[in-house]
Formats: sequence, structure tokens, C-alpha cells
Amino acid sequence: KRAAALAAMTYIDESEVLGVGTGSTVNHLIDLIKEKRLYLKGAVSSSEASTARLKAIGVPVLDLNTVGSIGVYIDGADEATQNRHLIKGGGGALTREKIIAATAQKFVCIADSSKLVPVLGAFPLPVEVIPMAQSYVARVLAGMGGQPRLRVNAQGEKFITDNGNVILDVSGLNLTDAAGVESQINQIVGVATVGLFARRPADVLLVANPDGS
Ligand code: 5RP
Repeated sequence: KRAAALAAMTYIDESEVLGVGTGSTVNHLIDLIKEKRLYLKGAVSSSEASTARLKAIGVPVLDLNTVGSIGVYIDGADEATQNRHLIKGGGGALTREKIIAATAQKFVCIADSSKLVPVLGAFPLPVEVIPMAQSYVARVLAGMGGQPRLRVNAQGEKFITDNGNVILDVSGLNLTDAAGVESQINQIVGVATVGLFARRPADVLLVANPDGS
């Protein structure tokens, strides 16, 4: 994870606002920004967790609405294919991640080689849902052949996203046509975001091997 984060450093321009994702791979990136003494103009963050880490190392965290478009956005993934389609949302930050990806000119995805798959779908697909629509959306997803499961936190309570929503983790869907399924799930009333990044894939995928290459 650190090797992938290190490789992504070459995409950072200190004079531009950087889009920063969420997760353990991105945490290495934030550590490296500190270690390499980069002085970023600012960052737009995809989660409260990353915001706290960025602020702790002195990076100004900006509101996307005051920034406009982002040059480079760096984030991890739960699964990635060679054509840079992704499943994201294992950390629960998928909605803000998708918003930043949509505004970014270049989306650089960083991952260790365990994330690289021939076809997406072994990792349960995260779907962020407005709480009152939880049962309805679960029924529609089951009708599509999926097995939705409400995400819970370590205490066994409902996992609540930074946006106040719940997450259904869906197994069993056929994601061969990832962009098609992404559109189909986007159409379900009550869905905030589906964690498929096929319609707006990563532009660059940096995969680190166990030997650090
Ligand atoms: C968070 C994400 C993360 O990028 C994804 O879960 C990968 O996390 P990690 O780097 O910890 O393996 O999508 O919502």
C-alpha cells in the first residue's frame, strides 16, 4: 500500500488543490505528504477521517464548492480491473469519493495487487441508501439477483455514513457489464450512490506488488 502511495506522489502538484480519498492506502499517502514535506495549497477530502488526518499534518482542507474542479484526485479501491473499473466504498466514503472523482481531471487509483481482479464482484458492492428507503432498495436489489446486507459497525450497530445514510453491501450481482449495472442501481429511488466506478473509471491505476515494485 505504501509503495502504491509512493508511486502516486509524482502526480501531486503542490500549487494545485489535491483530491484525497479514504482508507488505509490513502493514509500512507497522507503520511508521505508529511514525510516528504510537501506543502499543498490545499486538499478536498472524501471523508471526515481523511479530513482529520490532513488537518493534523497542516494541510488546509477546502470545501469543494469553493474550489471548482480538481486537478488530481488520489484514492484507493476495494477491487480494480485492468480497464480501471473499480469497486469502492469498503470504508463507507463512496458518495464523497464519487463526487470528487466526477470533478477531477485525473483520478489516480492506488492499490496493492490483491485488489486487481479479472471481473468485479467478489467484493460485496457497497450501496449508500437514504435510511427510510433501506427496505425498499434492498428488495429491488434482491430482485436484480443480489443479496443485500445492511452494514454494521464494530459494535454491531448500523453503520452511518458521513452523510447520515446507511450502506447495503450487495453480494451475488453479475457485474460483467459494470457500467450498465451502475446505471441501473443509480436509478433506484432512495439510492445515494453505488460504489461502482465504471462510468467514470480511474484514469491511472497504480498497482503495487508484494516486492514493492
Ligand atoms: C473507502 C474506499 C477505499 O478506497 C477502499 O475501501 C480501499 O481501502 P483500503 O485502502 O483501506 O484498502 O473506497 O470508501
